[in-house]
This record gives sequence, structure tokens and C-alpha cells, in this order.
Amino acid sequence: MHDVGTKTLRGQRVVLRRFTRNDAEAMFKNWASDPRVTETVTWHPHKDVNETKELLKIWVNDYKNPWTYRWAIETNEGTLIGSIDFVAFSEAHLSGEVGYCLAYDYWNQGYATEALNLLIGFMFEEVGLNRIEAKYLVVNPASKRVMEKVGMQFEGVHRQMYRIKGRTHDLGRYAIVKDDYEKNRR
Ligand SMILES: CC(C)(COP(=O)(O)OP(=O)(O)OC[C@H]1O[C@@H](n2cnc3c(N)ncnc32)[C@H](O)[C@@H]1OP(=O)(O)O)[C@@H](O)C(=O)NCCC(=O)NCCS
Repeated sequence: MHDVGTKTLRGQRVVLRRFTRNDAEAMFKNWASDPRVTETVTWHPHKDVNETKELLKIWVNDYKNPWTYRWAIETNEGTLIGSIDFVAFSEAHLSGEVGYCLAYDYWNQGYATEALNLLIGFMFEEVGLNRIEAKYLVVNPASKRVMEKVGMQFEGVHRQMYRIKGRTHDLGRYAIVKDDYEKNRR
């Protein structure tokens, strides 16, 4: 495996790049403060921009570790619309788990799919991972659909796995392995 780190990746409509501390206002306004976005994730909406600033301080510092893989998703026009990152990473098993979230105004336009496709290509080809997995709440079919669209395979449901915002949720799991990725490209 190669510790390439969070390198800029360019797609047709999005650029994946490192977060900077200057992203706080846009991140807070576009998704971090929005309860529609946080409904299906473990964290709560940020109450004020200082919370976003504190988080970005940590995230930017994390880049000192070359095994940090966390990107800001920006449109080609320069609007910051979301994040995509490895929430768990195992060098020993050549595997990682990805998570993503998008600003509400940009949902259902293919942006998460494009970002995840970029990340998968980079992780298999440049970092040398063998397996990438992703989990979704069963009540969140959009996230499941993103996983399907990038060629991940369904691996099952963990019943009553997560307790989020007072509700217990079943958790579905998808994964793609390097063999699938190579087959899909043929
Ligand atoms: C999940 C999320 C990242 C998807 O981002 P996105 O940019 O809208 O995703 P895409 O546009 O690439 O794809 C969404 C797909 O879901 C489909 N979809 C949306 N709502 C749906 C629903 N209620 N039922 C079934 N499919 C649905 C869309 O039609 C689209 O599929 P299609 O291209 O076949 O039509 C975004 O909704 C989000 O940020 N949600 C809140 C945070 C979150 O849940 N993150 C994931 C945690 S696992």
C-alpha cells in the first residue's frame, strides 16, 4: 500500500480536494447546520459556525497523517457541496469504509455517485486497497442507491445495529473489492 494521502481528484463535474480552515462558513451554511442532511448520520447539526471551525481545525491537522483520506467535494464552479472520507481504514486488511454527505440543494443530481467513483478508482489504483465498504441506514434508500450505482455489492443487513437520534436502525452494508472493480471496467 502507498500512503498517497488526500490528493486532489478531478471528475467531470466535481473536484475532490483537502479541506482548509477557510471552508468553515460554506460547510456550516451548505450542510453541517442542516437537520435534513444530518437525519441519517451519527452527528448532530452544528449550532453555530464555531463548531464547524473547531472540527475543521481537527480535520486539517489530521492531514499530517498520510493515511488520512478526507475530501471536500467542490463543484467545478467552486461551490463547496459536501464531504467524502474514510471513516475506518485498515492497512493490515487493505480495506476501508467510506462515508459521504452532500448539501441538500445538490441531492439527486449524481454528485455523490461521481465523488464515490473517483474515490474508488484512486483507492484501488493509487493507494492499493483491496476492499472498500459502505454502510447505510435502511431508512436511507438514496445512500443505498449510490452504493449500487458505483458497482458495490450488497452484503446484508445488520438488524437494529445503530441507535441514532433516539431511533433504532437496521444497517445495510455494501462493498466493492478490487476484482469487481476490474471486472466492471472491462
Ligand atoms: C445519501 C446522499 C449522499 C446521496 O447524495 P446524492 O448526490 O443525492 O446522490 P446521487 O444523486 O449520486 O444518487 C442518489 C440516488 O438515490 C435515488 N434516491 C433518492 N431518494 C430516493 C428514495 N427515497 N428512494 C429510492 N431512491 C432514491 C436517486 O434517484 C438517485 O438514484 P438514480 O440516479 O438512479 O435516480 C445524500 O442524500 C446525503 O447527503 N444524505 C444525508 C447524509 C447521508 O445520509 N449520508 C450517507 C450516510 S450512509
